[in-house]
Amino acid sequence: MGTGSSDVVEPLVSVRDLRTHFPVGGGALARLRGSRRVVHALDGVTVDIHPRETLAVIGESGSGKSTMGRSILRLEEPTSGSVAFRGKDVTSLSREELRRERQHMQMVFQNPYSSVNRRNRLIDIVAEPLRVHGIGDAASRRARATELLELVGLNPDFLHRYPHEVSGGQLQRIGIARALATGPDFLVADEPTASLDVSVRAQVMNLLADLKEELGLTLMFISHDLAVVSYIADHIAVMYLGRIVEVGTKAQLESAPQHPYTRALFEAAPKPDPRLRKKEAAPLGEVPSAIDRPSGCHYHPRCPLAMEICKVEYPALEVKANGQQAACHAVPPAGVPAGATVLPVTVA
Ligand SMILES: Nc1ncnc2c1ncn2[C@@H]1O[C@H](COP(=O)(O)OP(=O)(O)OP(=O)(O)O)[C@@H](O)[C@H]1O
Ligand SMILES: [Mg+2]
Repeated sequence: MGTGSSDVVEPLVSVRDLRTHFPVGGGALARLRGSRRVVHALDGVTVDIHPRETLAVIGESGSGKSTMGRSILRLEEPTSGSVAFRGKDVTSLSREELRRERQHMQMVFQNPYSSVNRRNRLIDIVAEPLRVHGIGDAASRRARATELLELVGLNPDFLHRYPHEVSGGQLQRIGIARALATGPDFLVADEPTASLDVSVRAQVMNLLADLKEELGLTLMFISHDLAVVSYIADHIAVMYLGRIVEVGTKAQLESAPQHPYTRALFEAAPKPDPRLRKKEAAPLGEVPSAIDRPSGCHYHPRCPLAMEICKVEYPALEVKANGQQAACHAVPPAGVPAGATVLPVTVA
């Protein structure tokens, strides 16, 4: 991501100007008039993820985090832009080539119950990707499933149970085992602990972090929970209405967030130490609709620093003084003397 030692290493995943737009409603008449409305769920995202690194993606509900993850894996068909995985353009692969490439890139879903077939035994759920990819025979798949269960900290006799016979945390371990079955390099984990009891979230997070180290995985980790992000992230990307508004190392964003939206997010996050809690959590106001987005910088109606230019021109994502990139007219780019600033950089 343009910073630190990872500069010399080729990115594992290179996302370039990726857009995924969904047509919505409007009905036949509107279609006839050519005025079909569109959700700009993902609207020009460019980011690199380097091997063995975790990119955490944060942002309010509806900002396009899941669409980004799904579009990178082509579980959602992007409207334009490209994704290169180990240098290979994923967006131009045929269905068959894509199916093969999926062995190397997998997804862990938010809700383990809705992402598995409840009538299947856990062994069939874990071994499913092996079957789909035609890897091994029944006996070797069973052996691999047993091995995977051990890897995610479950006893082999779980293999013969059904989803409703295990807890949410255990089923998410199964979801992780299934995602790892084909030995992927890259995992997209979309809020993998959000549907779990608070008591087991930490265990599942620890498991993911351990597996990442042990297997040398590269992760894109989507979460609302900044404490979780702080635990697992190397880099953080902040999404707002389909675009990345700030991206950099965890240290850069946590020490001096540049974009007013990132600041608001960090200020609104619950602080573990009550003395650090502000009386008024930053009032973020309402998220505008992804269909009728505000002109210029989409954040300007909620932004305490908004200027005239913000209403008309979307700001470029550029390197700011602290080293990370942010898209904000009010924050001067790196190299511009602080005297010219509109904004004192405070440490959160
Ligand atoms: N298949 C679809 N058809 C139409 N609109 C969609 C579709 N999928 C997502 N959207 C819209 O795209 C926008 C981004 O949705 P997305 O699910 O990516 O957000 P998110 O950041 O993952 O939100 P959350 O935190 O709630 O999971 C939203 O406005 C959503 O309603
Ligand atoms: Mg989502």
